[in-house]
Amino acid sequence: MLRFDHVSLSYGSQTILNNLSFEIQEGQFAVLIGPSGCGKTTTLKMINRLIQPNSGHIYLNDQDISAVDRVELRRHTGYVIQQIGLFPNMTVAQNICVVPKLLKWPKEKCDQVVHDLLEMVNMPFDQYAHKYPSEMSGGQQQRIGILRALAASPPVVLMDEPFSALDPMTRRSLQIEVKNLQQKLNKTIIFVTHDMEEALDLADVIIFMDHGNIVQMAPPEEMLENPATDQIRDFLGKHHAGPSPEQLTVDHFMRTGIITVNQNRGVNECVSRMQHHNVDTLLVVDEYRHYQGTVSIADIRLTGHVVKTIGPLVRNSTPTVHRGDNAKECFDQLVSSGFPYLVVLNDDQTVAGIITKTSMASAMAEQLWG
Ligand SMILES: Nc1ncnc2c1ncn2[C@@H]1O[C@H](COP(=O)(O)OP(=O)(O)O)[C@@H](O)[C@H]1O
Ligand SMILES: [Mg+2]
Repeated sequence: MLRFDHVSLSYGSQTILNNLSFEIQEGQFAVLIGPSGCGKTTTLKMINRLIQPNSGHIYLNDQDISAVDRVELRRHTGYVIQQIGLFPNMTVAQNICVVPKLLKWPKEKCDQVVHDLLEMVNMPFDQYAHKYPSEMSGGQQQRIGILRALAASPPVVLMDEPFSALDPMTRRSLQIEVKNLQQKLNKTIIFVTHDMEEALDLADVIIFMDHGNIVQMAPPEEMLENPATDQIRDFLGKHHAGPSPEQLTVDHFMRTGIITVNQNRGVNECVSRMQHHNVDTLLVVDEYRHYQGTVSIADIRLTGHVVKTIGPLVRNSTPTVHRGDNAKECFDQLVSSGFPYLVVLNDDQTVAGIITKTSMASAMAEQLWG
């Protein structure tokens, strides 16, 4: 799809890009990352011929771009930069359609594109199409900037630190949106950032540059597992230490070695076990050790004198989750359930452990501070 073939550039005696060769497949989200001044922006600008290499070739769909008319090339490459610069005197709809208009698309087709793109980012057409940039937040303007880059359906979209001026919340939501758009539209995106977190979240493949060289090109998981140099390891920083939040499962946070009691056991035995372990509920299992529910000291006090075994007192209202479930979702469930703990089950319905707010908090502290 996009191929750099021994591309070099120098300004005077200074080497800016040193013999870059790499290939990006169609539909891939490629992220260029590296320290300031390493040549990210320069590399990006070569793809739409804002800068020409001294030597080497760049191929877009097997066509050498030096043979393509520059204006034509730029109309077919979306470009988003940090300061998006919407035209202040044009509406959202007009801004989005700048390139389609240059390409002389009929009005109905332009309108349809504006409509579809706005819908895709949950900005209803009726509400936003006729607004002016000054009537919107910075995040909304940047969103429109991205739609503008996508409007003429270019095969490649170049993005140079498009979110670096935004607050973290807006930045996060735009990252998710761009990734969604890319997947829905199957776009090839070359995205520049100096933020490793952003790179790890978005990239199918990360290209790490330093002093005009490619130091490592690898999918995020591979780079995390096997950083090629100490510099990359430093960039990966805390990410390298362990799994990303999305990968954390309830297993990381659960307390194990939980006391259980068989449902056929007597009330007295159950009470003495609670006293011995200083707990006010116990997890109840059947003879196959399958989880049945919980029994509480309060229920035993209330009705314990009329039953022989704890079986009739077992409640199964405590929420259960399974090993491997996403940690954050389980934590949300724990908080919203109002229960003091959730029971974590193995696949065979035996008890693996419990998670409490305290076990979550201490495990989280360990993740953060080691
Ligand atoms: N017009 C120019 N003349 C001379 N040097 C330049 C010019 N533009 C960029 N550079 C140098 O090229 C290197 C790469 O710049 P750039 O691609 O903007 O880096 P990045 O985007 O990774 O921060 C830097 O050392 C920069 O100083
Ligand atoms: Mg730059």
